[in-house]
Amino acid sequence: APVPAAPPRSEVLTGDPANNVTDYIYSKMGTNLHLQPDHPICVIKQAIYNYFQANQPGLFKTFDGLHPVVSAHSNFDEVLVPKDHVSRSPNDTYYVNADTVLRCHTSAHQAELLRLGHPGFLVTGDVYRRDSIDATHYPVFHQMEGVRVFSPDEWTAAGLGPTEFAERELKAALEGMARTLFGANIECRWVDAYFPFTNPSFELEIFFNGKWLEVLGCGVMEQVILDANYPDGSGKKAWAFGLGLERLAMVLFDIPDIRLFWSGDERFLRQFKAGDLKAKFKSYSKFPPCYKDMAFWVSPEFTENNLCELVRGERGAGEWEGTHYGRVGALVKESDMLHLDDDVRMGIGGDLVEEVTLIDSFTHPKTQRTSNCFRITYRSMERSLTDDEINALQDRVREGVSGELKVELR
Ligand code: PHE
Repeated sequence: APVPAAPPRSEVLTGDPANNVTDYIYSKMGTNLHLQPDHPICVIKQAIYNYFQANQPGLFKTFDGLHPVVSAHSNFDEVLVPKDHVSRSPNDTYYVNADTVLRCHTSAHQAELLRLGHPGFLVTGDVYRRDSIDATHYPVFHQMEGVRVFSPDEWTAAGLGPTEFAERELKAALEGMARTLFGANIECRWVDAYFPFTNPSFELEIFFNGKWLEVLGCGVMEQVILDANYPDGSGKKAWAFGLGLERLAMVLFDIPDIRLFWSGDERFLRQFKAGDLKAKFKSYSKFPPCYKDMAFWVSPEFTENNLCELVRGERGAGEWEGTHYGRVGALVKESDMLHLDDDVRMGIGGDLVEEVTLIDSFTHPKTQRTSNCFRITYRSMERSLTDDEINALQDRVREGVSGELKVELR
């Protein structure tokens, strides 16, 4: 899919008296977290798309690249937001000029997509709201809108009236989605709500980590929206929902702060993978790293795992239960470890070592000896480290490496 670029700066920061978009907000446009395959926002998006596709193959058309700059008409009027509704105020919404806004919800695309006549569609995109900033609020976030249109034969076959039928179908579809994301045993409840564009309206809550969490808004589409936009709309009935992808991702992946989505930090990004709904975020340090490089000629017995163990005290993953790779290269029982030197048992740097990476390796053409250069990243979870303590640690690492690993430091 073509990636929608940020619009030209002059089209957003217009200098119009009504313009209240800041450079900061403009700088977020075109980032498109929902289009980066391994980004948690995109992982959730794809899981929901897959769910609807598996449930009703081919029915839902997906739209990922619709532009976030929309008319105030489509953002508000076409979804029946009253003229005096707070969301229209420039205190809540970013205006490009008096008639143009940064969409504050994906519902801004309901009417235009209904006019295309698809019986089902899912729209994902970045939405913008002026709001306080805290761990769960950010002025840009991502929503997905879903719409499904029914024909009379569908509710007739079910022996229900159009509204009852649409409501039943809506709740079944969204409960199924919640089970797909959060597991078959997730507890759901429906709470009555109000939206200008649906009637009746509901919020779905899930019981997660001991409390009820709102995950989406939805309802049976107001008939006038269908009448005005869908081909032959007055004979049809529809449901619609809108959900916040950050909220879902924070709950599902245990992500504690909404800013992490935007950090671009590899330590965040590499924890998530397309298709993996089981990932749980592990926090990393906010304190600065300190890098130390170390080069040596390797011996035939040298392995990177032995080095890591010496440096950090890392153990073989899982399979060495009851035993630890204590002394370098030797598997020892827990009971024997008490006799070992602390450095070897615990690793010299312990948890202060964040990462050990091979940054360079070459083999001397004449002697055929191989030299490796490793970079050790030191970083504390709790505090800034001092030069003195890192230098002292690094000296001990160098001693340990030449003594225990029998390599020749350069
Ligand atoms: N647009 C609503 C919001 O942003 C969510 C919603 C979408 C509710 C569709 C009902 C139907 O809060």
